[in-house]
Amino acid sequence: MKSVLFSRFFILLPWILIVIIMLDVDTRRPAPPLTPRPYFSPYAVGRSGTRHPLRRGGPDSGPGRGLKKRNESRPQPQPQPEPPLPTIYAITPTYSRPVQKAELTRLANTFRQVAQLHWILVEDAAARSELVSRFLARAGLPSTHLHVPTPRRYKRPGLPRATEQRNAGLAWLRQRHQHQRSQPGVLFFADDDNTYSLELFQEMRTTRKVSVWPVGLVGGRRYERPLVENGKVVGWYTGWRADRPFAIDMAGFAVSLQVILSNPTAVFKRRGSQPGMQESDFLKQITTVEELEPKANNCTKVLVWHTRTEKVNLTNEPKYHLDTVKIEV
Ligand code: UGA
Ligand code: MN
Repeated sequence: MKSVLFSRFFILLPWILIVIIMLDVDTRRPAPPLTPRPYFSPYAVGRSGTRHPLRRGGPDSGPGRGLKKRNESRPQPQPQPEPPLPTIYAITPTYSRPVQKAELTRLANTFRQVAQLHWILVEDAAARSELVSRFLARAGLPSTHLHVPTPRRYKRPGLPRATEQRNAGLAWLRQRHQHQRSQPGVLFFADDDNTYSLELFQEMRTTRKVSVWPVGLVGGRRYERPLVENGKVVGWYTGWRADRPFAIDMAGFAVSLQVILSNPTAVFKRRGSQPGMQESDFLKQITTVEELEPKANNCTKVLVWHTRTEKVNLTNEPKYHLDTVKIEV
């Protein structure tokens, strides 16, 4: 009888041990974090543009934990007041067409996630449209709504676009800051059909004079970019009109507010300007290639894309309004 009990006990023993080990392992597992992991966002970035590393572990972990008590008695250093975040002014020329509201919606959804951004929306029109006015009122963004029509003679294929609208934005900016010239700010020309990453705004925020970066899907190539050596722009990677003094798209640069204010006559010119040369003609008035500040990891990252929206197919659209309701699209 005794030996039967013994043999049963030895058969069960390994199983009992396995159960004990499993229970023990389970209780040692760290508890799941109460708050979700922070995701990458421009708000997680310090105002000076530095990224704060994600902390691993709670306040008691890390090499300094034993010093906590001693530190408490020392006077804590006062936190330095952070310098004001430069305002990003985005000038967007826009014109009425079936995709306009869709383009502006995509743009507003991006801009809404960028801190301290002021949107200067300039309609290519004789008056502010109802559609854009209503849209901006609900966009939840600091904005200014301007309008100026492109003269009929310039509305031809092959001629530069949005010259008058960008100049209207520049004039508004200079007027607004004529008495407060020292405020930090950065100007960027944001066409309504491009695609902008949030990281781009972090990069341009630290522009001192004129900064540059690559642009995707432009010039008949996957991307164009400034070539950088020892932190300086020394040339351009481009497949189209490499003779351009600044072989860069409108989406590939930003200018500090100080430079805009100290060069009051710098504007986009109609006379003698060809498509693709507007950027060079403008930049020539305010900077030199040697002065340019390369962004986006020495111009090796594409953070903006010159996407162009396909013309919509409206072949089945009735000539006269047939629906029972009128809908804004
Ligand atoms: C390229 C450049 O990326 C533009 O910055 C440049 O203005 C343009 O060429 C040019 O040839 O002038 P692309 O995609 O060909 O861009 O031009 P669009 O996107 O059609 O126009 C640029 C901006 O001007 C857009 O924000 C668009 O809404 C606006 N636009 C265009 C007007 O305000 N009025 C127009 O009649 C056409
Ligand atoms: Mn475009």
